[in-house]
Amino acid sequence: MGLRHFLTLADFSSSELQALIKRGIEIKSGLQKGELYQPLQGKVLAMIFEKSSTRTRVSFEAGMAQFGGHAIFMSPEGTQLGRGEPIEDTARVLSNMVDAVMIRTFEQDKIECLAKYASVPIINGLSDTYHPCQLLADMQTYYEHRGPIEGKMVVWLGDGNNMCHSYINAARLYGFNLRYVCPQGYLPDEDIVNSASDNVEYFSDARVAVKGADLVVTDVWASMGQEEEADERAKIFAPFQVNAELMAVANDDALFMHCLPAHRGEEVTADVIDGKQSVVWDEAGNRLHAQKALLEFLLTK
Ligand code: CP
Ligand code: NVA
Repeated sequence: MGLRHFLTLADFSSSELQALIKRGIEIKSGLQKGELYQPLQGKVLAMIFEKSSTRTRVSFEAGMAQFGGHAIFMSPEGTQLGRGEPIEDTARVLSNMVDAVMIRTFEQDKIECLAKYASVPIINGLSDTYHPCQLLADMQTYYEHRGPIEGKMVVWLGDGNNMCHSYINAARLYGFNLRYVCPQGYLPDEDIVNSASDNVEYFSDARVAVKGADLVVTDVWASMGQEEEADERAKIFAPFQVNAELMAVANDDALFMHCLPAHRGEEVTADVIDGKQSVVWDEAGNRLHAQKALLEFLLTK
């Protein structure tokens, strides 16, 4: 296999994504049984974080350690990136030292530029446009609880943000139907919606959209970098809150997911996120196993 990157879900085929779910589950099961599996001995992952992270950082770092490799945390403050060294130069330098680079930043273009100049796999650990690693974990989690997601109804509520865009890509690649319910002015990118038009549909009314849902998903109303808009957004997004009344309209066995961190009382009420239909802890934990499957694919195949 030649050099592969994971900049968006669309970099992988549907069958590759299905295979990653299977491998994520196998790798998780081996770890839980205490089996030692170290396919990445001597391999190093550089992790560039230009935004905060708990799950992404710890899951990649723990995953590399469990696989017998090593991960290096890089922040703008502690590296020359923060002093303006071009991403093109960083790409070429890191490619001579490490086996893969994960980056969390603002612009998707910057990640694409890194990939263009790198000679090692680049992984998108979140940009303003996409969060593909989270979808690997979400799809594994759905599969573990309910089986194949193909043909199921998923409802996205809230901001048409990076997570929403990755759900739109996922709808096409994993073959589910996605209803998105977002306020005007906060709709997902039109080109991304159009790329999956057979699988996605806009709804203005949350209760109408959620009827028949198998999975209900939301995210923060103000993403990283939008902190100053938080008060204004809280007013605009209030009708899009996931609460018990809304979940009651979904199918009885519907699941609730949220990539976390969550704001209880804003996009989701405590009774839902801490309730029986919520699988958010499995979802967060699966970041580890799903990304280990991704690392194995990119670095050993
Ligand atoms: N869901 C997610 O990516 O979490 P972090 O921001 O903590 O990495
Ligand atoms: N949409 C959120 C996701 C955080 C994991 C953000 O970008 O801040």
